Amino acid sequence: MDIKFEKRAELKQKPDEKNLGFGKYYTDHMFMMDYDEGQGWHDACIVPYGPIPMEPTCVTLHYAQETFEGMKAYRTAEGKIQLFRPEMNARRMINSNARLCMPAFPEDMFIEAVKAIVKVDADWVPSEPETSLYIRPFMFATEGALGAHASSSYKFVIVLSPSGAYYKEGVNPVRILIEDELVRAVKGGTGFAKCGGNYASSLLAQKKAAEQGCAQVLWLDGVERKYVEEVGTMNVMFKIAGEIYTAAIDGSVLPGVTRDSIIHILRDWGYTVNEGKLSVDDLMKAGHDGTLEEAFGTGTAAVISPIGEFLYKDDSVRINDFKTGELTQKLYDYLTGIQWGREEDKYNWTTTIDA
Ligand code: COI
Repeated sequence: MDIKFEKRAELKQKPDEKNLGFGKYYTDHMFMMDYDEGQGWHDACIVPYGPIPMEPTCVTLHYAQETFEGMKAYRTAEGKIQLFRPEMNARRMINSNARLCMPAFPEDMFIEAVKAIVKVDADWVPSEPETSLYIRPFMFATEGALGAHASSSYKFVIVLSPSGAYYKEGVNPVRILIEDELVRAVKGGTGFAKCGGNYASSLLAQKKAAEQGCAQVLWLDGVERKYVEEVGTMNVMFKIAGEIYTAAIDGSVLPGVTRDSIIHILRDWGYTVNEGKLSVDDLMKAGHDGTLEEAFGTGTAAVISPIGEFLYKDDSVRINDFKTGELTQKLYDYLTGIQWGREEDKYNWTTTIDA
């Protein structure tokens, strides 16, 4: 790919790495590339981070033809910068785009673009403990038209955000409301795709959860409101009587990169991982009879988020005395150990960027 580079005239002041929060600061530059029907992808460039002009009738603004990804660049103790399984994000975006009638952005170009923009803004990869450079590739329709149809033009963009913990609680247990009315996804819908619309439609439930003192919601399936699917914006796993349970990837659940990695590690450690249906009644029963030993969300932004309590209708269960479970902590330490280069990368999951 031939990438044109326009350097920012005056580089920005970098934020205090000890107080980054999540997704609040953006680096000096961004990657952009355009797509036009009949021409394909063209004009790759790295330009100063800034506003992107668009038509008021842009298809994205009216019909939400948009997809995105979330990944991170990590600074190791030796000062190296590494990515974690970037090909998984590239492939997931291709699948998301297919569902939204958007063109594929080829895997090799995706990885090349991510590496190129991270290399340009390499000084922004933080080195404080638990910090990383969050990478947000996204694609959106750019055609101006009010008829509901697939756009004939698109923009692929990558912005970067030096970040700390996703939740203000950090890696500490949170309270979760089990949502029995609103749903996130149904099979045949867009639940498996990473598209903005899924997140917009989840906000009301999140607001409801916050009003009840909960950090997030646990989503049930959209047909029977019976089987557990995801937690907030993450996949979710439960340790019940020594075995792990998580929803299968069968249409309504996002195929998480962290989910896949944790399942690999757990199976390697000898755990039985059941990918399938777990009913909310069985979950609450396990909570009451003491066999629900641990529960946690998995996602790129938060990595692993322990769950300390579930509220469901007028019932509630506390897990492990609202303390982070032993296995949850071990998984967090091991996975982040690989990501930050503290653990041997025996699965070959990391890719170094020469910056
Ligand atoms: C991620 O975990 O990377 C996500 O995309 C979730 C997002 C809401 C920050």
